[in-house]
Amino acid sequence: MTQRRLPKAGTFQIAPSVLSADFAVLASEIAEVTDSGIEIIHLDVMDGHFVPNLTFGPPVVKWIRKHTDAVLDTHLMITDPDKYAERFAEAGSDHITFHIETVADPKAFVKYLRDLGVTVGVTLNPDTPVEAVEAVAPLCDMVLVMTVNPGFGGQSFMDDAAQKCIRLRQIVGQAVRIEVDGGIDPTTVGTVKRYGADTFVAGNAIFGKPDRAAAIAALREAIENG
Ligand code: DX5
Ligand code: ZN
Repeated sequence: MTQRRLPKAGTFQIAPSVLSADFAVLASEIAEVTDSGIEIIHLDVMDGHFVPNLTFGPPVVKWIRKHTDAVLDTHLMITDPDKYAERFAEAGSDHITFHIETVADPKAFVKYLRDLGVTVGVTLNPDTPVEAVEAVAPLCDMVLVMTVNPGFGGQSFMDDAAQKCIRLRQIVGQAVRIEVDGGIDPTTVGTVKRYGADTFVAGNAIFGKPDRAAAIAALREAIENG
């Protein structure tokens, strides 16, 4: 299976989260954003255990894979990523992010994921301190900073959590992407850019809007001016 690669560090990227899309017509929802030049699609996987919500598993990723060449950025909000990561890689995920709160030996898990042929992300909840990912972050391709408590789209941006990007950028340097997730819209994206983020997940701010091209253009303008 051909895995796509994350765009090189040093470019700003918007990663629309399909959580706010119409799941009955997911292929056309994704095509609408890739037609606007989007290269990364963010897939939120929830197990009803690590977070109080349920979404989808590997079979849905497999079908999405058939309909897009975008990088599939798979955010595992699940208690047992070690049990399921392989199935997501087989289904066509290109990048897999695990929560630091769920893994006993993060360094070994990063290696395990790399051996599956995917690029690797680690993430931390708003209440988890930066120190928890300090040792493993430089080994990853991308660090995801949760700027809401995971589980639902459309929540309010948490500035305190976002400020962790500043310290993380010092830790990982320029070679590792820093992604932010939760409450990102044209009013907050400039702030997280200034904190050091370069990859911006947006669910409600894109798929919650009728005109996705205009929504992406508004985010891009805010990133440029931020
Ligand atoms: C939240 C998810 C997010 C979510 C973001 O648990 O991890 O990816 O889709 O949604 P917005 O952009 O609407 O806050
Ligand atoms: Zn997410």
